Amino acid sequence: MALDIRALIFDLDGVITDTAELHYQSWKRLSEEEGIPFTRHDNEQLRGVDRRESLRRILKGQPIEESIAQEWMTRKNNYYTTLLQDLTPDNRLPGVVNFLEEARAAGLKIGLGSASRNANPVLDKLSLRSMFDVVGDGYSVARTKPAPDLFVWVAGALGVPPMQSVVFEDAEAGIAAGLEGGFWTVGLGDPANVGRAHVLIRDLSQAAVRAILESVEQMSVKG
Ligand code: BG6
Ligand code: MG
Repeated sequence: MALDIRALIFDLDGVITDTAELHYQSWKRLSEEEGIPFTRHDNEQLRGVDRRESLRRILKGQPIEESIAQEWMTRKNNYYTTLLQDLTPDNRLPGVVNFLEEARAAGLKIGLGSASRNANPVLDKLSLRSMFDVVGDGYSVARTKPAPDLFVWVAGALGVPPMQSVVFEDAEAGIAAGLEGGFWTVGLGDPANVGRAHVLIRDLSQAAVRAILESVEQMSVKG
């Protein structure tokens, strides 16, 4: 039976643009102010997970009063949104626009599934908002990645079942979410993070839409 992929759903940070460094600088500033050790290595553990889970991982299980946690997250987000002001279309990752245009020309629906509550402003700064049929962000569902809910929400809004959609992700939590939701998954970057994905690529400049669809098709035939 033909697979008939009808939608592609993209993560934002690490797939469309690289805001991990800006998240790092913002958390770093907060952690220095509060005397919490925080390294670039620690920052890698925050890929794909939401703001509350990021703080939990930074604190490494140390308990904190909820009102203080809220104040810290607000402060970090203020630092982050200030850094976002300098984002421009030059901050799109290599190959992004070509890939999205290829997908559109192939008649595929295009969605965004990002755990970030800043996804819409980031897309606006990149001048990419109009390329997406649906944008799911950190406000769309209660449980973000690694729960499948966000991708399922985006697929539902696109009107395409998960098994006919491909998720593009750079984070372990995102691949876990895609697999759990019954999506086909493409992992970008380090196989240490995305090794469980159906297809692995370096970035979108190294991939063609048609080749990805063919890979998925072959895997479905093999079962
Ligand atoms: C994800 C990032 O896209 O958004 C995470 O990969 C980040 O690192 C998460 O923690 C939440 O972002 P925000 O903008 O809502 O604080
Ligand atoms: Mg990501």
